[in-house]
Amino acid sequence: MLRRLAFQRWIEVRRVLRGLPQASQSFSTALNYHVDGPDNNPDLPWEFTDANKEKVREILSHYPSNYKQSGVIPLLDLAQRQHGGWLPVSAMNHIAKIIEVPPIRVYEVATFYSMFNRTKVGKYHLLVCGTTPCMIRGSREIEEALLKHLGVKRNEVTKDGLFSVGEMECMGCCVNAPMITVADYSNGSEGYTYNYFEDVTPKRVVEIVEALRRGEKPPRGTQNPSRANSGPEGGNTTLLTEPVAPACRDLDAC
Ligand code: FES
Repeated sequence: MLRRLAFQRWIEVRRVLRGLPQASQSFSTALNYHVDGPDNNPDLPWEFTDANKEKVREILSHYPSNYKQSGVIPLLDLAQRQHGGWLPVSAMNHIAKIIEVPPIRVYEVATFYSMFNRTKVGKYHLLVCGTTPCMIRGSREIEEALLKHLGVKRNEVTKDGLFSVGEMECMGCCVNAPMITVADYSNGSEGYTYNYFEDVTPKRVVEIVEALRRGEKPPRGTQNPSRANSGPEGGNTTLLTEPVAPACRDLDAC
């Protein structure tokens, strides 16, 4: 009897859960798991370039020799820059050997931080901030404009390998929402840049993409010409004059 009641209860719970709208979760770095492929599998050799081997030594010199694993984030960052913006599994395995930990310890870090890409990205990886202030100020339209203009889905790379569009959570400049970041891998690990473009509009992000395609460097920061940095649109509304030292009342103390 009890077993039959428990079974009926389970059927009811399952029915209710199936009726709920499916929660959708989006990941800023495409797949959150690894699938072996021709360009990403543990049999592919991977090492740091000679110049970067020197940087690896320098990074590890910051930590005691029995705490090499503390260098995992800067090493992953260096590997990602060297590899055109993403981390193949063989690069992560190589780092695990360098810092003398099981590979899973490196995978854990690379899968936790959304700045590490584990699938290919474009030379210019465009990240749209999708957190609430940017969303209220139109980040969905910004993303739509980019995807439509480039003819890709989120986390897909354009056929010419130049662009991909991802999503990030708050990047700390909500006062200039909506904003995007451009991670520029077009100049290798030496010339890597990560720039914010703020107060963007659907039209302006397309202009930024086209400027990057032409090899130009569009101005960073606010894209709203009537704002200075994070100041109010149209100019200051307070603090309109230069501060003046208060008049000295007590002459002896002056
Ligand atoms: S919400 Fe987009 S920068 Fe904070």
